[in-house]
Amino acid sequence: MTRLLGISGSLRKASTNTGLLRSIRDMAPAHVQMEVASLHGIPLFDEDDEAATGKPAAVAALDARIRSADGIIFACPEYNFSMPGVLKNANDWLSRGGSPFRWKRVGVVGAGGGQVAGTARAQYHLRQNLQALQAIVMPRPEVFITNNEVKFNADGTLTDEETWRYVAKWLEAFIEWVEKRP
Ligand SMILES: Cc1cc2nc3c(=O)[nH]c(=O)nc-3n(C[C@H](O)[C@H](O)[C@H](O)COP(=O)(O)O)c2cc1C
Repeated sequence: MTRLLGISGSLRKASTNTGLLRSIRDMAPAHVQMEVASLHGIPLFDEDDEAATGKPAAVAALDARIRSADGIIFACPEYNFSMPGVLKNANDWLSRGGSPFRWKRVGVVGAGGGQVAGTARAQYHLRQNLQALQAIVMPRPEVFITNNEVKFNADGTLTDEETWRYVAKWLEAFIEWVEKRP
């Protein structure tokens, strides 16, 4: 059994990035078990709060889920040409006291609007951030989904068949990346 954990960089209910993670979970083969985590409940990082009360419960819980997974998949929206603040904030908390991403196999995907970037700029900032956290990030293939407004429905569920096949191919490579430990 291979265990994957998806982390969405969007908090909204109808998030296409969270929907993308649900689709990845649904398309995974039987020997792969995947859960999708959200970043709800993680407060803004404040070193004074950390000194007074330590890691918040939501951070400690996510940290434990990351440690027990074999691979992590980030679905990263693009906000102002970069990763969303909620995701950077979560990773800042997680980096404290020993990163749970150390030695961890990680994949990055993303869905965005319009025809151009497909979250590429945000994903490359996230990749830089994951380097600080000592993650082992799959170099390629990559997933840059454009025009999310037509490829996902109003609930944020992936409905475009061609995109589904594109993501399924990526997932096949990612599972190999997680399972093969040369
Ligand atoms: C504050 C903010 C900034 C954004 N900046 C960008 C951007 O720089 N590039 C882009 O392609 N989309 C940008 N968007 C659009 C988001 O990528 C789009 O809303 C996307 O659907 C968010 O992901 P989600 O569906 O998972 O919530 C921005 C949205 C917000 C709210």
